[in-house]
Amino acid sequence: MEKLEFYENPKFHHVRHPLIEHKLAILRDIHTPTKQFVELAEEIAMLETYEATKDLPLEAVTVETPLEKATCYMVSGRAVGIVPILRAGLGMVSGVQKLIPNAKVGHIGLYRDHETHQPIEYYCKLPEDAENRTLIVVDPMLATGGSASDAIAMIKKRGVTKIKLCCIVSAPEGIRRILADHPDVDLYVATVDRCLNENCYILPGLGDAGDRLFGTK
Ligand code: PRP
Ligand code: URA
Repeated sequence: MEKLEFYENPKFHHVRHPLIEHKLAILRDIHTPTKQFVELAEEIAMLETYEATKDLPLEAVTVETPLEKATCYMVSGRAVGIVPILRAGLGMVSGVQKLIPNAKVGHIGLYRDHETHQPIEYYCKLPEDAENRTLIVVDPMLATGGSASDAIAMIKKRGVTKIKLCCIVSAPEGIRRILADHPDVDLYVATVDRCLNENCYILPGLGDAGDRLFGTK
């Protein structure tokens, strides 16, 4: 298969791992029940977080082992914030928190208008010191990229400069949109799917992530 041009962009990260592939196969399956869907979204988010946090700054600390004092390195407590795009982004928060339990969580409310497919904003609450943190924006689906692009623009208006976007399923259209609108943002995805359908749903995708996470359909 022809390699798509965004693989050359250093800000684009396709997180590949056999466990992610395995979990994705079950996540996509129409027969997977809500409880298992929720668990898998959390687990994939956790695996992606491992990759997305590789460049977090460390600070030296002195630790007393049973034998002597040792210089060790820890992630600064004020380093990270997690920002789910409501609703479906909520399904990834616990996975990130498992690895970074002290991260503060902000929320951005956006939904796609079903007719126009354009994102409609309805909520934004970020940690007070957001501008001092690396914010990891999470949303399982990157389709046209409109929702994530708008969410990142809202965050930038608050003075935040270190932003990463973590999605599970992505379409080439959404990837191109994020890399074009926000060339400073690192984008992490677990899979790059084929294309969008006429309703801007990802193919093959997994359907409506929010509905599958919350059992609303
Ligand atoms: C979904 C998804 C993304 C958005 C992706 O949310 O969780 O936020 O669509 O589409 P885009 O890349 O074309 O903007 P949706 O609008 O269905 O809202 P929900 O999370 O409340 O279900
Ligand atoms: N939002 C979803 O939940 N699924 C898609 O395929 C596209 C947008």
